[in-house]
Amino acid sequence: MEKLQCRQVRSLFFLVIMFVFIRIGEAQSQSFLINCGANSSVNIDGRKWVGDLVRNSNVSFSSTGMAASTDSLSGDSIYEPIYKSARIFKDGLNYTVEVIPGNYIVRLHFCPIPLEDLNVNDSLFGAAANGLKLLSQLSVPGEIAHKNLYLQSSGENASSLSLIKEYVLGIKLDVLVIELIPSEGSFGFINAIEVVPVVDRLFEDTIQKVAGNDMDFNLSGRGIETMYRLNVGGPEIKPSQDSDLWRMWEVDSSYMITANAGVEIRNSSNITYASMNDSSLAPLLVYETARTMSNTEVLEKRFNMSWKFEVDPDFDYVVRLHFCELLYDSANERIFKIYINNRTAANTFDVFARAGGRNRAYHQDYFDAVSSKTYTLWIQLGPDTAAGASGTDALLSGLEIFKLSRNGNLAYVEKYDSAGNSVSRSKSWILWVGIGAGIASAVILAAVFTLVFYIRKNRRDKSSDMKNNSPGWRPLFLHKGIVNSTANAKGTGSQNPNGSTSSTRSGKRFTLAEIRCATNNFDESLVIGVGGFGKVYKGEIEDGSLAAIKRANPQSEQGLAEFETEIEMLSRLRHRHLVSLIGFCEEQNEMILVYEYMANGTLRSHLFGSDLPPLTWKQRLDVCIGAARGLHYLHTGAEQGIIHRDIKTTNILLDENFVAKMSDFGLSKTGPSMEHTHVSTAVKGSFGYLDPEYFRRQQLTEKSDVYSFGVVLFEVVCARAVINPTLPKDQINLAEWAMKWQRQRSLETIIDPHLKGNLSLESLEKFGEIAEKCLDDERKNRPTMGEVLWHLEYVLQLQEAWMHANDRENSFSGCQALAEVEEEREIRNGKEVPTLDEEKSK
Ligand SMILES: *[C@@H]1O[C@H](CO)[C@@H](O)[C@H](O)[C@H]1NC(C)=O
Repeated sequence: MEKLQCRQVRSLFFLVIMFVFIRIGEAQSQSFLINCGANSSVNIDGRKWVGDLVRNSNVSFSSTGMAASTDSLSGDSIYEPIYKSARIFKDGLNYTVEVIPGNYIVRLHFCPIPLEDLNVNDSLFGAAANGLKLLSQLSVPGEIAHKNLYLQSSGENASSLSLIKEYVLGIKLDVLVIELIPSEGSFGFINAIEVVPVVDRLFEDTIQKVAGNDMDFNLSGRGIETMYRLNVGGPEIKPSQDSDLWRMWEVDSSYMITANAGVEIRNSSNITYASMNDSSLAPLLVYETARTMSNTEVLEKRFNMSWKFEVDPDFDYVVRLHFCELLYDSANERIFKIYINNRTAANTFDVFARAGGRNRAYHQDYFDAVSSKTYTLWIQLGPDTAAGASGTDALLSGLEIFKLSRNGNLAYVEKYDSAGNSVSRSKSWILWVGIGAGIASAVILAAVFTLVFYIRKNRRDKSSDMKNNSPGWRPLFLHKGIVNSTANAKGTGSQNPNGSTSSTRSGKRFTLAEIRCATNNFDESLVIGVGGFGKVYKGEIEDGSLAAIKRANPQSEQGLAEFETEIEMLSRLRHRHLVSLIGFCEEQNEMILVYEYMANGTLRSHLFGSDLPPLTWKQRLDVCIGAARGLHYLHTGAEQGIIHRDIKTTNILLDENFVAKMSDFGLSKTGPSMEHTHVSTAVKGSFGYLDPEYFRRQQLTEKSDVYSFGVVLFEVVCARAVINPTLPKDQINLAEWAMKWQRQRSLETIIDPHLKGNLSLESLEKFGEIAEKCLDDERKNRPTMGEVLWHLEYVLQLQEAWMHANDRENSFSGCQALAEVEEEREIRNGKEVPTLDEEKSK
């Protein structure tokens, strides 16, 4: 009896406890950590990341999207275990999280991992949260590359492989819907989503405007993105050290202009928050270190401590500065000025006085609207001479920059002026790198399209008799040759095998019916390539010859602009080593290009990643020479040289006889004319092949192509991807890895094993030297394509002589053959690099 009572009491007690728990559970917001594309959960620093395939009543996602994973991910991110999986989407993908209304930090984690059928460099997508646009046209590899380059430029050895986007959102509903939207014709991926409740208030609505008064900026009603978060003068603070909110605090030195303007100080004694409400704004660790001005003994200080950040134009920002006086025991000892973008944010700033003592953690927010022409935010702290010499020293402990949404938008996409040039990113840095096969921001291209439209409109205005039978888009600005020659026979037969820049071109206008017939009504089984523009089909045209038929996605303006460039370029150029255009079709809003069929596909497919037999060294040299010839022609053949801009092994195609031809002129630009020595333009091209100087200065010259070609040379000899994120850090980027060995004159260590023993080491040595010269940091030191071509021919001769000698091994020494080559080289040395005329006369 007693026992029974006891049991009843106990179960009642349990019920009460459970009830209390449930109530607490209901009342308190919880974190949601989603491990995308995974069917199991992973613990990191005591937090459980739940696989999105694990049943969870609070989290769900729309059924679209494929799971992807990799075993081999190297890198030192603490999030590595959750970065090994991702969810890929070609259509919109939604994650829905049931939350208690309130403020949340939302982090989207992206880490490009190798994907089976897709090139992760080609991904391009946007994101929104409960209708607030967070991202648009995001290229994750592009942003990572950009940030790494930026940090490297300040001497950091940066090689981050992942990207975390952080937002602070006030959620008014009881759901948070994160929408992920691929850009037209592309796809996206996501590795993890983190939703962390913010219990205390992080922002006040009313804050001080730079060079103005306190004002209500309705911060709680706007979406906020964290742009930068730095622990000034101290080490990196990891998420696990920032208990509730799991924020990451970077070191500040890489953002500082002349880092030695500030010295680091440290004091970890009993720091407390100046106001209890501030306790979640930053962990106390942030306040234990600071930067103060160097040379405090110098009476007259004539410098500022300055930090410089890239920001998106046309947004409002909150700059949050964290301070804690660690040295002085009274006010008036350290008084300074604060400038934000050259304007005074504060005079006579005295941390001790404001915080109410020493070791008191204190912060100050400033609101600043950044104009549409401003791409940087400078924060400077310097002496306030009015305060008298004794107190003029500055101090800063931490710094955060937040971007505020405008009209429901936080996303920023690079803008271009009417000429298609970037109007942005100061001279040295841009946010965007167009990545992958012709994939670039559709918005960039929309701008180009606008220009095209403008030109067309102008032309139409000028010539009202322009025939205009197609209401859809038509390549009106194309070279007359193509447009007017619709009745002509196909171009292949009449094609001049050598270079010619004559502007009258023959190109057949195909009907859509003919194209449908040739491709078996766009039969999927005939698809031989897919890119940002649409698909490429193998087809048989009426005379029985094979053709590659490139069909633009009609909705894709991106494809349109590039297509038109391509037709324009190809209609002006004919060369044995450039892929030739047979004709085109424009009917019912279709834009289709018909090229000669290249039976052996891309050079890349013969180097790695397929089952095709490896090419011999001689074959590889022949291909490189062919491609170099095509490029040399592009650079010098036309009246105004043409820069290809997207040289890579997937744009070098091989015909049935392994003759190399350059393709994909979608990104080409006409080269500098006499007055200018470069073309200033938005950075496009492919990650891994980009000329760093082009990246830095956005100035395009033929030497940018030479750089990319150098990378191709290394790719040909090493037979590996130019960027392989699955390799150890120092090997990821082929250009760096190969240069490292080449500089030590031991390139043979890393060459394709298939080549070992089958090539003349002397030829390899010369080959390595050429590639090395192409990759010279300084453009002026890089050879011209003509010089590259000539040297490659010499390499081929060395190899042929070696083969010859090997054939006759034992019966005849190879010395004579080599001597012959040397002799010939002497003769040629005296001559100039072969000119185009010489080539033509071949
Ligand atoms: C510090 O920076 C501000 C804003 O750019 C500038 O006006 C001021 O002259 C600088 N002070 C010194 C001592 O260089």
